[in-house]
Amino acid sequence: MELHPDVERVLVSDEQIANRCKELGKEISEYYKGEVPIAVGLLKGSVPFLAQLVKNVPGDIEMDFMDVSSYSGTESTEVKIIKDLEGSIRDRSILLVEDIIDTGKTIKVVKELLYSKGAKDVKIVALLDKPEGRKVDVDADWVGFVIPDEFVIGYGLDYNQRYRNLPYVGVIKKSAI
Ligand code: PRP
Repeated sequence: MELHPDVERVLVSDEQIANRCKELGKEISEYYKGEVPIAVGLLKGSVPFLAQLVKNVPGDIEMDFMDVSSYSGTESTEVKIIKDLEGSIRDRSILLVEDIIDTGKTIKVVKELLYSKGAKDVKIVALLDKPEGRKVDVDADWVGFVIPDEFVIGYGLDYNQRYRNLPYVGVIKKSAI
């Protein structure tokens, strides 16, 4: 497969992601045995990963989507809801699906938000985890790949809204920024 001209190198290939999603799908469905969780995808970055992941969850699972923008307020991170969930999550188990955890601010506020909407349990699965970027104390329950502190694109991740469609995660060339 030809590499996009703005990509320096591939960090995680399409095949690696597909294989990891099979493992994660198995682990996740074992955890939710006997109940039907709702996979909540955060738009837009989570879409390719969520699509690949749910195909590998053998049990029943529902899907819903949210779009939020988080910003740092005077004392904590605030979240603005751009698109809210469609259905009720009261007393439901939620699997929050993210493409990447960097500072951790997004999942921390969204997790709190989902509990405030009445969720019974909120677990987090992220395709990528960048531990060096962490600014708040939060972690995913399942992680696809731990990556170094580099600017990555592809498989949902963008730079100025582009590159989300790349079928791999790559490091962007300095000349493209
Ligand atoms: C990106 C990504 C995560 C968040 C991670 O979202 O999808 O939601 O940033 O960063 P954090 O751990 O430092 O909070 P972005 O706001 O760029 O939206 P997008 O999904 O539409 O690209």
